[in-house]
This record gives sequence, C-alpha cells and structure tokens, in this order.
Amino acid sequence: MGRFKQFIAELLGALALILLVHAQDQSDFISIDCGLPENSSYTEWQTGVDYISDAGFIDSGINRQISTEFKGDLQQVWSLRSFPEGIRNCYSIKITQGSKYLIRATFFYGNYDGESKLPVFDVHLGANIWDTIKMTNVSVGFVKELIHVPPLNYIQLCLVNTQRGTPFISAIELRPLPNSTYVTTDGSLEPFWRVDVGSESNLQYRYKYDVYDRIWWPYNYEEWTGLSTSLTIESGSSNAYRPPSVVMSTAATPINDSASLNFNWEPEDATSKYYIYMHFAEVVKLKANQSRSFNVILNGEHWYGPYVPDYLWTSTLYSKYALTSTGGQYAFSLVKTENSTLPPIINAIEIYSVKNLLQSETDQEDVGAITKIKSTYGVKRNWQGDPCAPQAYSWEGLNCSYDGYNAPRVISLNLSSSELTGAISADISTLVMLKYLDLSNNSLTGLVPEFLSQLQYLEVLNLERNQLNGSIPAELIKRSNSGSLLLSLGQNPNLCPSISCTTEQKKKKNIIVPIVASIGGLFILLLGAAGIFWIFKRIREQEGDKVSNLQNVQLESKNRQFTYSEIQMISNNFEKLLGEGGFGKVYLGYVDGNPVAVKMISQSAVEGYQQFQSEVEPLIRVHHRNLTILVGYCNEGPNLALIYEYMANGDLHSHISDAENNSNILSWEGRIRIALDSAQGLEYLHDDCNPPIIHRDVKLSNILLNEKFQAKIADFGLSRVIPTDGGSYVTTVVAGTPGYLDPEYFRSNKLTPKSDVYSFGIVLMELITGRPAIMRSSENVHISQWVNSMVAHGDIRSIVDPRLPNGDFDLNSAWKAVEVSMTCVSENPLNRPTMSQVVIDLKECLATELAQRREDSVTESNDSSSIFTINVTTGTSPSAR
Ligand SMILES: *[C@@H]1O[C@H](CO)[C@@H](O)[C@H](O)[C@H]1NC(C)=O
Ligand SMILES: *[C@@H]1O[C@H](CO)[C@@H](O)[C@H](O)[C@H]1NC(C)=O
Ligand SMILES: *[C@@H]1O[C@H](CO)[C@@H](O)[C@H](O)[C@H]1NC(C)=O
Ligand SMILES: *[C@@H]1O[C@H](CO)[C@@H](O)[C@H](O)[C@H]1NC(C)=O
Ligand SMILES: *[C@@H]1O[C@H](CO)[C@@H](O)[C@H](O)[C@H]1NC(C)=O
Ligand SMILES: *[C@@H]1O[C@H](CO)[C@@H](O)[C@H](O)[C@H]1NC(C)=O
Ligand SMILES: *[C@@H]1O[C@H](CO)[C@@H](O)[C@H](O)[C@H]1NC(C)=O
Ligand SMILES: *[C@@H]1O[C@H](CO)[C@@H](O)[C@H](O)[C@H]1NC(C)=O
Ligand SMILES: *[C@@H]1O[C@H](CO)[C@@H](O)[C@H](O)[C@H]1NC(C)=O
Ligand SMILES: *[C@@H]1O[C@H](CO)[C@@H](O)[C@H](O)[C@H]1NC(C)=O
Repeated sequence: MGRFKQFIAELLGALALILLVHAQDQSDFISIDCGLPENSSYTEWQTGVDYISDAGFIDSGINRQISTEFKGDLQQVWSLRSFPEGIRNCYSIKITQGSKYLIRATFFYGNYDGESKLPVFDVHLGANIWDTIKMTNVSVGFVKELIHVPPLNYIQLCLVNTQRGTPFISAIELRPLPNSTYVTTDGSLEPFWRVDVGSESNLQYRYKYDVYDRIWWPYNYEEWTGLSTSLTIESGSSNAYRPPSVVMSTAATPINDSASLNFNWEPEDATSKYYIYMHFAEVVKLKANQSRSFNVILNGEHWYGPYVPDYLWTSTLYSKYALTSTGGQYAFSLVKTENSTLPPIINAIEIYSVKNLLQSETDQEDVGAITKIKSTYGVKRNWQGDPCAPQAYSWEGLNCSYDGYNAPRVISLNLSSSELTGAISADISTLVMLKYLDLSNNSLTGLVPEFLSQLQYLEVLNLERNQLNGSIPAELIKRSNSGSLLLSLGQNPNLCPSISCTTEQKKKKNIIVPIVASIGGLFILLLGAAGIFWIFKRIREQEGDKVSNLQNVQLESKNRQFTYSEIQMISNNFEKLLGEGGFGKVYLGYVDGNPVAVKMISQSAVEGYQQFQSEVEPLIRVHHRNLTILVGYCNEGPNLALIYEYMANGDLHSHISDAENNSNILSWEGRIRIALDSAQGLEYLHDDCNPPIIHRDVKLSNILLNEKFQAKIADFGLSRVIPTDGGSYVTTVVAGTPGYLDPEYFRSNKLTPKSDVYSFGIVLMELITGRPAIMRSSENVHISQWVNSMVAHGDIRSIVDPRLPNGDFDLNSAWKAVEVSMTCVSENPLNRPTMSQVVIDLKECLATELAQRREDSVTESNDSSSIFTINVTTGTSPSAR
C-alpha cells in the first residue's frame, strides 16, 4: 500500500470534472485564493465555492500568475503569492476558537517564475513546523491537509525559506468540522488515505457532494469487484461523519465469494499512530435467503463484529484510540461469518496519521505587546508569525523562555540601533518576564518611565545613547545599587544624573527609613551611601539564611564527611541490616536522632573509582522533596559509605512485584501519585540541576517510599561512581538494568535525559500492570511489547494490574497513564516527552482519577470497549455494538 501514501499529494494535475449538485451551505468555509488581486473574488465553477483574495490576511509577498500553458479547470491555482523576501512570511486568519477545522493548503508551481526550478520550502502552522513542501513536477499540485483544533482565535500559516527556492502558496481553505467527528486522544490528524471504494465514475468528489469539502479519491483494487446502487444513501443527523451519498453508493466486495476483503499499510516509522474510519452501507437489496455479515480483523486479532451493514444507511466504524501495531504493519481483513451467504463489503475508508503539534504559541499577552511595539515604532525587521516559536525562527532581537510545553515568554528584547523615535512604549511593561531590555543607540525622547521598575525580573536595562530627559525612577537606582540590575544610561545629555536629583533623594529616604526602622533604631544614624549598601547587603544575607533554613538544618549543618568510626557509631556497629544491593549492604543508623540508611559499598564494587569524593560531594547539595537526601558519606581507605535519609516503606519493587506476600495492594491513585512524585524528582534532576543529572538507573528498586508513601528517587548521580546493580552491565560505558535500558542509548552510547524517560516509562508500565519489566515465561517478553499488544485489543481492564479491584480506577485515567508510558518508551528519543511533560500528563491523569472518585461510580457504566460505531438507526449517541 506504499503507493497510497501519495494519496492527496498529486491532485491538481488532472483534477476531474465534478458536476454540480444541489447547493449546500458554505457560509462557514474560509476559501482564500492566494495572489488574487485585492478585493476580487470568484466562484469556482466546478464546486461552487467562493474564493476571495488573500490581501487581507498578509502584508508581504508578491502576486504572480502561473504560466498559461498550465492553466486548467481549477481557477484557485491560477494565481499564487510568492515570497522572495524574508525567511518567514505568515498569513494570519481569524477563526472560531475551539472549533475543529479541516485545514488545506494547496501549492501549484506552474512555472510562474519562468525558471522551471521546483522549489522546496517549509510550512509552519502557528508555533509548529507543519511540513516540508517539495514540488516534484511543474504541472502537478501538492495539497497538505490537517484536521486540527487551533488553540487560538486565529491561525498563522507561514511559508519558510530554507534556502532551496522561493516559497509560494496557491490556496488556503478552512472547513469547520463538528467537534464530535475525528476525535483523538492526542494530536491532530493528517490524511493518509481517503478513498471512495468501488468508484465507477473514477472521479474525485468534494463539495458540494461532501458537506465538509473532503476530497474523496476513486479506488479500485484488482481482487475486488464493485457493487452499487442508484438510490440515495442516507446519512442521518447522528452520524456526523456524513460521507457523501455518491461515495457511499458504490462499494467493493471480493471477487472470490469466500475470500476476505483485505487492506493493509506499513507505518511511516515505528512511532506513527493511525486512526481509521470505515464507512459501510448495504447497496444491494438482500433476498430473504441472503445475508451479509462479517467480522473486522486487525493484525490477525478480532477487532469488531459480527457486523451487518444496513440497507442504504451509512454506519461509520472507527476506533476511539489510535491504532498501534507491534508487527510494523496494519492489516485489516473483513471476514464473512460462517452463516453469511454474501462476502463482506466496504464503501469508503479514511486513514489518518497522528500529527503532534506540541509547541504552544507564545503567551498571548506578550504577543499583543510585542505586536503593538512593532507597529508603534514601525520596526523594520522580518517580524512575522509567532514571536518565539518555532524556536529557530523567533523574531530577531527577541529571546524567549521555552519549557517545551507552556507558552513561551519573551525574556529579552534588543531594539538597539533600530532608529526608534518617540517615548519608551508603555507596551513594554506588558512583557512582564523581561530580563534583558536594550533600547540603546536610538532617538527615544521623554522620561525614563516608572513602569520599567515594575519589570521584576529585569537584570539588564540599556538606555544608552538616546535623548531621554528628566530623572531616573528611584526603584531602578535602588536595584542598580543592590547589584540586581545592570543599568546603563550614558549619553542621554538631558537626563538628570541619578542620585543628585532632589526628587530622587526624597524617595530614597522614604524607602530606606522603614527598612532601617524595622531592623532597629540603632542604625538610623547610619544613613548615607555606605549605610545603604550595608543595609542592603545585610538584607540579602538574611535572605540567604532563609533559603538554607528551608533545608534540613540539623543534617545540613553536620560535617558531611564521616569517618569510619563515626559510621560504626551511627549504625551501632552495623546492628540492623535493611537490605542488600549489587553494591553492598544497607544498615539502619541514626544521625542527630534521625534515622538514616547507611549504604556500605562493597570493595569489589568500588575498585578503580578514584573520584568518589568529587562525584559525591555535589550530590549533597541537590535537594528536592522527591529525591532521597544524601546526608553524607565516608571515604576512608577501603571503606566507602553513603548515608541517606531513611525511607520507612522501603522500595517500590517490593510493593509491586512481591505483592503476593503483601496484603496491601497499592491503589490506583496511590500508584499515580508515586509515578508523579518520581517524575517530579527526575524533572528536577534534568531541568533544575546544573549540569543536568541523568540518573541512568531508574527502576522500581531505586524509588523509595517514606512513611507517608511519598516517593523519592534514590541513587541519583551515582552511576558514574558506583556500578549499578545491573548484573552484566557493570561497565562505565553502558550502565543500567536490563529491561529498563534505553535501546537507543545501548545502540548509540549517547546519554541524554531521554534515556531516563525511557526507563521511567518502564517503571510506569510496571506500576500500571503490576508485571515485571521482563516477563520470563517460555520466551522472555518485554513489558513494552506486552502493553503494546494489549492496547491493540483496546481493553484497558486487561492491561491494568488484575490485583486492583475493578472499581478502583477510572478508565480514562488508566488510558492516559498507559498512553504516557507508551510515549515514554518510544523507540526514537525525539518522540519521547520530557520529564516536565510527563509531570503535566500525570497530573492530568491524577486529576481525572480524583474527579472520577468525586463522581463516585456513576460514570463507570458506559465504556468497556474502545470501538464504537455510529449507527443512525439506533439512537442519538455513539454506542458500542
Ligand atoms: C479594496 O476595498 C477597500 C474597501 O472598500 C478600499 O479601501 C481599497 O482601496 C480597495 N483596494 C483596491 C486595490 O481596490
Ligand atoms: C467545539 O468545542 C469547543 C471547545 O470544547 C467549543 O468552544 C465549541 O463551541 C464547540 N463547537 C461546536 C460547534 O460545538
Ligand atoms: C509531470 O506530470 C505530468 C502529468 O501528470 C506528466 O505527464 C509528466 O511526465 C510529469 N513530469 C515529470 C518530470 O515527472
Ligand atoms: C477463494 O478463496 C478461498 C478462501 O480464501 C480459497 O480457498 C479459494 O482457493 C479461492 N478461490 C479462488 C478461485 O481463488
Ligand atoms: C434464494 O432464493 C432464490 C429465490 O428467491 C433462489 O433462486 C436461490 O437459489 C436461493 N438461494 C439459496 C442459496 O438458497
Ligand atoms: C449468524 O451467526 C451469528 C453467530 O455467529 C448469529 O449471531 C446470527 O444471528 C446469525 N445470523 C443469521 C442470519 O443466522
Ligand atoms: C543587541 O543588538 C545590537 C545591534 O543589533 C548588537 O550589537 C548587540 O550585540 C545585541 N545585544 C545582544 C545581547 O544580543
Ligand atoms: C539571545 O540568545 C542568544 C543565544 O543564547 C544570544 O547570543 C543573544 O545575545 C541573545 N539575545 C538577546 C537579545 O538577549
Ligand atoms: C547606532 O545606530 C546607527 C544607526 O541608527 C548605526 O549606524 C551606528 O553604527 C550605531 N552605533 C553603534 C555604536 O552601534
Ligand atoms: C523632556 O522632553 C520632552 C520632549 O522630548 C518635553 O516635552 C519635556 O518637557 C521634557 N521634560 C523635562 C523634564 O525636561
């Protein structure tokens, strides 16, 4: 089915003639013919759709016409807009926020520039890269489609020059779709195949046949034969998919009466996910002794059925969740049941691949502010599209903060030497996250505004070489003096030099006096420059104290390096053994009255580790509530020890794997909380430690539980110091535990935080299923394979740990958790989420579970199968059949 990938790619070379049928409403359509002269419009005669000029949606680019020899029936490609200037040029189109759209962009080169050189360029949709457009034939068009819910009340579609020719675009079409159609659990949908099976006319059908203006491609296969009816196929109000009657009135059935109807495809890559929509209607009036019923089989497993198509009535069969395949292919078979006298049929098929557009648009307040700044000063830069995203295309002179999930924020603005005139724009105060602001070497006039001092994160403010006058806000001077702001104001001839201005001094006194007073009357006499510095210094020192107060002062204040004899005392001469790992034994001890775990590292394990102390020392400073605190260590000759805070409930492994001997099964909610805790610990190691710490040995036994069952990650940062207890992998090259080991790391030896994400995914799967990472039966089965194959069945209950009582978990929460775990173990590290994304997802998962608890068991009843059909004859809502 490889050739089907070209589906939709090569449309326009020979777009078939389409006859008009009775008119249907197109009032919600947005149909833009790019390059059409301003204010002009026309009606495409084949479809009756009205197209308007793109002039109102973009400021840049030039209108061009394709060469006359290529002008065919389709008028929307006659003109186009090309973008010889600027890296990124963007359309901005108002839409209804929260609504689902079929977005279609059309490209037809038609040798418009007379150069017969086919360009290659990128298209961005908002903050995300949509795709690369590669023209392959002067006379063949290219269509990109996406079913997407844009997050804002406008979309930005950008043409991006990647140095391989001039970008251009012929048409942009937006078609609203009902919310209830094409629902995904994540991501948007890119068409992979949309076919009118058994077509007799060999025409493409779209609007007005199709109310949503989907384009249906005729499809016939040599082992299939056509069936058809001249009657209308109804698609009543409750089947929102509404495939056109003309498409539904033809169907295919196997030529060989007893054979099954098969189709299959191979995923573009291992992580591709698909949604399928099969449309059925009986087109033959069956005799009393005839019947047609069949089962739907996916990759050899029963997927749905037995199913009997209704006469002249459309039913749509689809999966609520993305299909996944373990065998690297998706093979559907419609197999007739034993008592069916007729072979299976199918009328239309749609297959979509999931496209994740994960990058958020820049914070909309920031966008509004920077857009106003752009127009206030008439900034002459290629400032188009989203200011911060995609990151590589952020606006020149802007830098933003990115965390991969939340909306990026503008954190620096450099408009130095940009010929700015007039006052400093108040819109700058809306950029509240600014750390760096450079407006130097312009002709700005007026005062240095107060609002700059409200930018609480500002670290650098450069207003040099302007025409500013008046005095400097006291707060800015204060911050400059305290060292928290680098303030540059030189070469503003009319600016009042800071301290000497009377108004400023008054303000300064007002600020200083209360501070002094609050410290104590004794210091009032110290007023003056030296005093100010001293006081501020003093306050900052106190703040410093406060920070360390938050940590465990008792343990913190103790010398962290213990002698061997101290270790003996702490552990009361190794009295109580807590456990034993690959590195050695663990004993209970007490430091300052607090219980600790003393890990004695066995001699064999530490051979050759010279850097013990230098590796361990920094870990003592790592503090997070989901990381076990390293209290101290011992490094005395052959005696190496690590002292950790004591975790009353031991490791997670014993709670999950050995739970047969354990009457207390961890609840679903408890498991999600533990997963969330652990994820937060890892997130901290990856994102907040400098340099980032990669754990390298994330697994159940390295997650410990305290007396409140709060989870903390253990042994972080140690994989380079002591071998992990992974048996055969005790080399410094590849460390880790079989089953948890990132296959990519194993292959490439390149260590990234994504390796931990992989291992975490395995931990999550173990938490969900209660099964070990490697299931040792007749053949060893890896948990990720197992989960994958079970997901294909679509029954969540068979995935979740059978020891959990059925009512104990919310199905949506379980699905979400399974999904998170599956993305974590994606083969390609790029497709794995970051730990911070995992944290967000797990929070959602927990929220879903908690919400369900609140609603009690009322919502439980409806959902045991993931596959639904919509059948117009049976009621108003999707139902499992
Ligand atoms: C397009 O229409 C607008 C509003 O009627 C008008 O102001 C503008 O001049 C027109 N542009 C052209 C090129 O005719
Ligand atoms: C679709 O859903 C969004 C968000 O849930 C909502 O704002 C919008 O009004 C819905 N559209 C329709 C047509 O129901
Ligand atoms: C371009 O497409 C046309 C029409 O489909 C075809 O006849 C021609 O051979 C193609 N040219 C190339 C270079 O592939
Ligand atoms: C028809 O299909 C059946 C089942 O697949 C097969 O056994 C049989 O040989 C086929 N007949 C022909 C003529 O191909
Ligand atoms: C079904 O009934 C028709 C008459 O209505 C008859 O000609 C045909 O042979 C029957 N077929 C079977 C399989 O019984
Ligand atoms: C065919 O068999 C299925 C069970 O396999 C049964 O549910 C169905 O009613 C039967 N249909 C007919 C027409 O006998
Ligand atoms: C700000 O822009 C100016 C001129 O474009 C440049 O010289 C300067 O290095 C920039 N500053 C930073 C921090 O990028
Ligand atoms: C933005 O970040 C880049 C790379 O870190 C740096 O070179 C540049 O100076 C920054 N620009 C501003 C305006 O801060
Ligand atoms: C100041 O800006 C002007 C253009 O406005 C530029 O020619 C000059 O080089 C800039 N000076 C410095 C020091 O950046
Ligand atoms: C500052 O300059 C502006 C015009 O640039 C002028 O209107 C204003 O009076 C000046 N203010 C002071 C305090 O000099």
